[in-house]
Amino acid sequence: MIETVRSLSTLRESVSRRRAAGKRIGLVPTMGALHEGHLTLVDIAGQHSDDVAVSLFVNPTQFAPGEDLDRYPRDEEGDRAKLEDRGASLLWAPGPEQMYPDGFATSVSVDGPSEGLETGYRPHFFGGVATVVTKLLLQVLPDVAVFGEKDYQQLQVIRRLVRDLDIPVQVVGGPTIREADGLAMSSRNAYLSAEHRAIAPALKRILDDTGRQAVSSPDGEKAETFATEALISAGFDKVDYVALRHADSLKPVTTNEIEAGAPLRLLAAAHLGTTRLIDNIDPRSV
Ligand code: PAJ
Repeated sequence: MIETVRSLSTLRESVSRRRAAGKRIGLVPTMGALHEGHLTLVDIAGQHSDDVAVSLFVNPTQFAPGEDLDRYPRDEEGDRAKLEDRGASLLWAPGPEQMYPDGFATSVSVDGPSEGLETGYRPHFFGGVATVVTKLLLQVLPDVAVFGEKDYQQLQVIRRLVRDLDIPVQVVGGPTIREADGLAMSSRNAYLSAEHRAIAPALKRILDDTGRQAVSSPDGEKAETFATEALISAGFDKVDYVALRHADSLKPVTTNEIEAGAPLRLLAAAHLGTTRLIDNIDPRSV
């Protein structure tokens, strides 16, 4: 039976009990509405630990006013059943007052990998993520925490904050899990109309084509322009960015660096109606 915990004191007791029994603890932070992408991270956490804790908290501070906080899909009962089925043993589901009590005044801000890309369009986002992830790691104090490559910039920001703040946890990245047609799974895919759902897989297809092109004739800027035009012709309404970056620093890469074999990541964000999709690939592995 999965144990559901809503207060920090109960969480700490539960984790201490498990540690006293010699268990290694894994943590998978989520905002719920769980799909196979999240559940694969639970499997990965299980390979690195004995007891897997999953946090479920729709974090208000990473949504800007006017974003989808109010309509973000919520299904705690369904999530609990899926987690139980995958063998997770602890569900940490704090309320907002537990996470941000009156007078809450501290935030974690990461430079470096947070700069550019998502921050150009969602400037509030990584401040909210970095603060809540720091809190979750300090609340659970897991041995290992697993995050998805689906949110690649987020993963790099978290790796950096864990390193910079000496948080004693091993961060593990899990691969992006996709629908059969290539669309990266996301709780937000539920917002897509049938028409937009049919267009959405073009994002991954165009990233693959662009990635191949960027590696074979290394010109990052040309590849980005090609991809933006291809997304608009495929039916996307607006392209926030398509960017070829160094896989670790997320800084732009020169033709020389590409030719010298630097690790790369190709990242994109684009809109279909009111839904914003993000995706990324390793252009050297397509
Ligand atoms: P959420 O969007 O619920 O995602 C939780 C975790 O699942 C993240 O690490 C995310 O990268 C991963 N994930 C989502 N879709 C995936 C997919 N298709 N394949 C693999 N992994 C996938 O990301 C967040 O929540 C929040 O920002 C959070 C880190 C919990 C902080 O509030």
